[in-house]
Amino acid sequence: MAESTLQAVNVAMRGGGYYSAVTKGAKDVIDGATPLVLDAIRHLPDAAATTPFTLTDMGCADGGTSLDMVRQAITAVRDRWPHRSICIVYTDQPRNDYNSLFHLIHGLTPLPSYLDEIKDVHVLASATSFYRQILPAGTLDLGFSATAMHWLSRKPCDLTHHIHALCAAGAELAAFAEQGQRDWETILLQRAHELKPGGRLVLVNFCKDEAGQYTSRVHMFDTANALWRRFTTEGVLSVEEYVRMTHHSITGPLRSSPGP
Ligand SMILES: C[S@@+](CC[C@H](N)C(=O)[O-])C[C@H]1O[C@@H](n2cnc3c(N)ncnc32)[C@H](O)[C@@H]1O
Repeated sequence: MAESTLQAVNVAMRGGGYYSAVTKGAKDVIDGATPLVLDAIRHLPDAAATTPFTLTDMGCADGGTSLDMVRQAITAVRDRWPHRSICIVYTDQPRNDYNSLFHLIHGLTPLPSYLDEIKDVHVLASATSFYRQILPAGTLDLGFSATAMHWLSRKPCDLTHHIHALCAAGAELAAFAEQGQRDWETILLQRAHELKPGGRLVLVNFCKDEAGQYTSRVHMFDTANALWRRFTTEGVLSVEEYVRMTHHSITGPLRSSPGP
């Protein structure tokens, strides 16, 4: 494989509105989590009409999959506080396709946006990682994130027997688990700075269940691994290239592949 390919960095979702158009599963997850968002809004402490309400969508991609959730959230906020300004802050990585996000939110695509449906709603975007503090301290009412925080801040090691961290074993699995714990703590500490007293988080993340299942009953990463192993026996890939294909939804600039 050419060095230029090894150096390639691709750590954002595919742009041009492609992500939302083909990612029904992620939208289903957000729709399923919307009652949690509405419940969180009901339980927020009361606030003066002069205080803006702020919601973040962390790891928003092009914003299409959360469009209906945000619509329902701002409707609930407006029902509860008829006179508060509402601020929606979309956040993702610097390489995210923000053009698609802006097109979508500002109604330049066939998907109907919520923007003109409710008065005094203000949309902002930030390319600051959720591993950093995104908002000024004490300004966040409700932080939301779906299917994004499994992207680790760094790769702790290469995997020798599988291409995906979910299927790692032994010391390699322990290294990923430790990294995951550290990253989770960082994410929560940064949100703790941002949240107003009584503010809430709704964070919807990939995980393994007690039976070891994730994403679906079919272990798609086992299938991908079998294919990559076959490539090494067929000489299409070297063993070194197979090992470097450690796949774990990395969020920083690495030489391996992007997340799901
Ligand atoms: C699978 S997409 C999920 C998009 C959307 N939240 C959804 O559920 O459909 C994961 C998103 O997380 C973003 N992401 C990954 N690491 C991030 C980080 N450290 N900070 C902010 N966004 C991140 C990716 O760029 C990508 O847009």
